[in-house]
Amino acid sequence: MKWFSNRIRLALLIVAAFLLLVGAAALVSGADAAKPPQPVAQPASQDKPSNDYCLGCHGQTNLTKTLPSGETLSLYINPTLFHEGVHNQENIACVDCHTNISTFPHPAFKANTIRDVTLQLYTSCKNCHADQYNKTLDSVHQKALAAGNFNAAVCTDCHNPHQQTRLTDQQTGALLPQARVSIPQTCARCHSTIYNTYKDSVHGAALTTGNPDVPTCIDCHGVHNIQDPTTARFRNDTPLLCAKCHTNPAIMDKYGISTQVLNTYVADFHGTTVTLFEQVSPDTPTNKPVCTDCHGVHDISNVNNPATGIAIKQNLLVKCQRCHPNVTTASFTDAWMNHYVASPTEYPLVYYVNLFYKILIPAVIGGMLIFVISDIVRRVVEARKGAQH
Ligand code: HEC
Ligand code: HEC
Ligand code: HEC
Ligand code: HEC
Ligand code: HEC
Ligand code: HEC
Ligand code: HEC
Ligand code: HEC
Ligand code: HEC
Repeated sequence: MKWFSNRIRLALLIVAAFLLLVGAAALVSGADAAKPPQPVAQPASQDKPSNDYCLGCHGQTNLTKTLPSGETLSLYINPTLFHEGVHNQENIACVDCHTNISTFPHPAFKANTIRDVTLQLYTSCKNCHADQYNKTLDSVHQKALAAGNFNAAVCTDCHNPHQQTRLTDQQTGALLPQARVSIPQTCARCHSTIYNTYKDSVHGAALTTGNPDVPTCIDCHGVHNIQDPTTARFRNDTPLLCAKCHTNPAIMDKYGISTQVLNTYVADFHGTTVTLFEQVSPDTPTNKPVCTDCHGVHDISNVNNPATGIAIKQNLLVKCQRCHPNVTTASFTDAWMNHYVASPTEYPLVYYVNLFYKILIPAVIGGMLIFVISDIVRRVVEARKGAQH
């Protein structure tokens, strides 16, 4: 009897202790997040936790957390988009990026703002994408970040890790057409004013129709290693930047656009100086115009556009006036010889003057040489004759 009641007491004690533990656990987790959803199935301790386990909670749209800043952080990961994403397709699991999380409750995580969450977690990308990560270290965005501008772009501002689809062709490594077309929209998340200007430009308008030949933001700025575009070096390099495409007949012939725009620019009185700077001291600022001073930067238009095209003298004059403020007559623009190579029909005077010099100079120098040589020969011959006598 005594032995029996001791067994019962022990059993009751164990049950009570168990209930107490469960209650305390419920209290603790309840204090952290109001009613965490129940997990699908606890992973066995030696298995890698499955995506389904994590999505059991994080696949619920209303899962949120209130941060110390008062902001509400959504903890919802869209399962459909996650499954279609490149990472899932490549068998990269939640826990391959969230390496410190395997069960619930999660390890303590302190972040005051939503931006804090991003800035703490994005560095996990470097474990697999060291190339891109290392390039960004030297970029304008990282420099802005280091200077305290926390809005500067990091990996996850341009690539949603949970939904990112493939950007490049697996075989060729080339950028996929759809990925290319949407690049400016990625930058527009923060540079919306520039994007709005760009999308109406001759380049941007063509891109929206799927044209693969026109530049997106990254053809001019680079991607992961974007440099400051306001430096003297960047400015002096502009003609070569534009020339990448504008001297290439394979691209330009399709649009009937001249490929002489670089060499005519270089031959021009303004262009010669810039080219010289570019070669001799690339970091010295130049006060002479580069392509973008006449054509604009993000607002480049068709040259014949009546409102903005610079083939129209009145529109061009405005560009000249920025540096030649005292000039008021549109005929001043005649000093710009245009990109046309002088020919008997375009700029005949220049053409014939050039031609004249091309014939006259060799003729004069050649004539002089013949004269000088024959004179020397004559003198030598006469000197010999004199010595014989
Ligand atoms: C039982 C539900 C549940 C499961 C299962 C779960 N989470 Fe969570 N997760 C939460 C809750 C609730 C939060 C809010 C913060 C907290 O309470 O810890 C959270 C927060 C997070 C956060 C934000 C950072 C942080 O720690 O607060 C990440 C990242 C995360 N979970 C990843 C995962 C991954 C990866 C898995 C799978 C291994 C997973 N979660 C499984 C409920 C769950
Ligand atoms: C390729 C890496 C990667 C994978 C795979 C990944 N995450 Fe994340 N996750 C991140 C990064 C980086 C952040 C930082 C937040 C940000 O910048 O959006 C994050 C943020 C989160 C957050 C915080 C809320 C938010 O969106 O910022 C939760 C919750 C989360 N992840 C859960 C998951 C779950 C669940 C899975 C699997 C279904 C998963 N993650 C897969 C990298 C990843
Ligand atoms: C555990 C490894 C791993 C981590 C961590 C990881 N990725 Fe990936 N990621 C991959 C793999 C593998 C691919 C497929 C690459 C391929 O086939 O070229 C990929 C593909 C990508 C692609 C598409 C590349 C393309 O060429 O189409 C992008 C963009 C990307 N990841 C961004 C990120 C970002 C941003 C992070 C950090 C939030 C991140 N990844 C973290 C492994 C990872
Ligand atoms: C300012 C936006 C931006 C940031 C920040 C950014 N990327 Fe990218 N990333 C892009 C664009 C746009 C492309 C597509 C262009 C291309 O492939 O040439 C790209 C391409 C990629 C690719 C495909 C392969 C490649 O190099 O083209 C990977 C992988 C990638 N990024 C990973 C990352 C990682 C990791 C980080 C952070 C260290 C990061 N990106 C930061 C915009 C960004
Ligand atoms: C998450 C926001 C964000 C995204 C997305 C973003 N940027 Fe930025 N970018 C910034 C911030 C913030 C700065 C630094 C502030 C500044 O100087 O204007 C900056 C600076 C720059 C600069 C230097 C500006 C200067 O005056 O020196 C360039 C160029 C630039 N970004 C290009 C891009 C391109 C191209 C993309 C898309 C591939 C892009 N950015 C995407 C936020 C962003
Ligand atoms: C055809 C080449 C080209 C393209 C395309 C281009 N840029 Fe630029 N960008 C430049 C040049 C050149 C400058 C320097 C202009 C200057 O000195 O005023 C510049 C300057 C900038 C600056 C810093 C100066 C400023 O105006 O704030 C930012 C930021 C920028 N670009 C972002 C973008 C974004 C975002 C896109 C795409 C929507 C884009 N660029 C497309 C050539 C280009
Ligand atoms: C990636 C290649 C590429 C780069 C780089 C590029 N362009 Fe273009 N540009 C094009 C293409 C292609 C067109 C024709 C678009 C169309 O007509 O649909 C074009 C059109 C133009 C036009 C309109 C010509 C006309 O018909 O009136 C001008 C002007 C122009 N670009 C100037 C520039 C300047 C200035 C730069 C440098 C800041 C530059 N481009 C950089 C590809 C490029
Ligand atoms: C970015 C500034 C800038 C722009 C834009 C510009 N110029 Fe100039 N230009 C100069 C500078 C600097 C000189 C050299 C002045 C000197 O050495 O006295 C110069 C010299 C000249 C000269 C030589 C005569 C003189 O005054 O020394 C002519 C002619 C001229 N520019 C015409 C034009 C025309 C036409 C345009 C518009 C199509 C134009 N410029 C746009 C900066 C500019
Ligand atoms: C001093 C001003 C000025 C400078 C500098 C300048 N351009 Fe032009 N550009 C013009 C004018 C004006 C036109 C329209 C009349 C013409 O074709 O000459 C034009 C026309 C063009 C066209 C259209 C040609 C066609 O066949 O329809 C392109 C493309 C172009 N420029 C690109 C460039 C590039 C690239 C640079 C730098 C290497 C450059 N421009 C420098 C003033 C300039």
